[in-house]
Amino acid sequence: MALWVSDSIHWVGAIDWNLRDFHGYETPRGTTYNAYLVQGKDTVALVDTVKAPFVDELLSRVAEVVDPAKVGLIVVNHVEPDHNGGLPAVMEAMPNARVVASTVGVKGVAEYHDGLAVEAVGADDVIDLGGRTLHFLPVSMVHWPDSMFTYCPEVTTLMPNDAFGQHMASAERFADQVGVDLAIEELAVYYSNILMGLSTPVAKAVARIAEVGWAPTVIAPSHGVIWRGDALAKAIEAYGRWTSNTLTDKVVVAYGTMWGSTDALARRIADGVAAEGVEVTLHDLALSPIATVTRDLLDAKGFLLGSSTLHRAMLYRPAGYLQWLGGLKPSGRLGGAFGSYGWSSGAVEQITERMTEIGFTMVGEPYKQKYRPTDDDLAAAFEWGRAFARAVKGA
Ligand code: FEO
Repeated sequence: MALWVSDSIHWVGAIDWNLRDFHGYETPRGTTYNAYLVQGKDTVALVDTVKAPFVDELLSRVAEVVDPAKVGLIVVNHVEPDHNGGLPAVMEAMPNARVVASTVGVKGVAEYHDGLAVEAVGADDVIDLGGRTLHFLPVSMVHWPDSMFTYCPEVTTLMPNDAFGQHMASAERFADQVGVDLAIEELAVYYSNILMGLSTPVAKAVARIAEVGWAPTVIAPSHGVIWRGDALAKAIEAYGRWTSNTLTDKVVVAYGTMWGSTDALARRIADGVAAEGVEVTLHDLALSPIATVTRDLLDAKGFLLGSSTLHRAMLYRPAGYLQWLGGLKPSGRLGGAFGSYGWSSGAVEQITERMTEIGFTMVGEPYKQKYRPTDDDLAAAFEWGRAFARAVKGA
């Protein structure tokens, strides 16, 4: 069912209850592809479309509100296929609509859709729908170069596409309906796994909202639930913390293990961290979703990565996780490497090299353990964890 978002704006998107993977990270709650119908006295605009398989769902919601042939404008805020994939089919159903995107978005639409031509809009453009106007702000790298925010000042509603989004399917449309704590937690998972490496452009884009005189009371992103009231204030406050890389005395311990020795080390290291009064979370990378590990790392000052050595190298799960993290470019954090080995070392050396490349400041020597750790070895691992926690507290 199409739902009111604010006066003159309906949500007409699609709910993808079954999405379990996005760009390689886990999305156990699914997602939504949000699209909004803005109704003026003279014409109607559709802000964003949906992933191609969901076009019929979008069109049926639009038809509840207005004949699709009466839609006079389609705004493409972002060309990634989860929003722009359905554009050609939507345009076919809305033959009287002009289509606009940012300057970079115009090129993206043409490249995605066999030369499909749309019009460019920028920060100086205003489109009047009759008593309702749409204003635009190109926001490069939030989350691609083509990204754009759209704002309707008469109903103080911002449609910022991926910004402020969360991967969460729900029948309810507002954060205060699903529970603000849950919505903020999903906002953190999305931010850490998609936007952490883009914190500078995200911070700039959020600052631009006020600089251009926009004062949204509703933020309606392209994924998940919509922010209003106290929930909106909490989401903005959280974005402020994350974009400024505000870190706490917290350590994330993650590892891959073959025969349990690295697992035993990880547990004692985590005990050592906790003994210093520093918050710690522990993840076996064969069991924990990478989305959860990264969410934990979002505000953690320290990251300890462990691996058994196999074929003189780290296991594929820690290696894969470092590949994921390399793209997200966490900065300002301390790091450490640990792990067991048999006839040859190799894992901790590789981890140290890769974490240094990513930007971690590696603390002290890696902790390596041959074969099975004895009680003395476990005591040493505990002390190694304590020493790392002290470095975190001093950082
Ligand atoms: Fe939801 Fe960058 O696409």
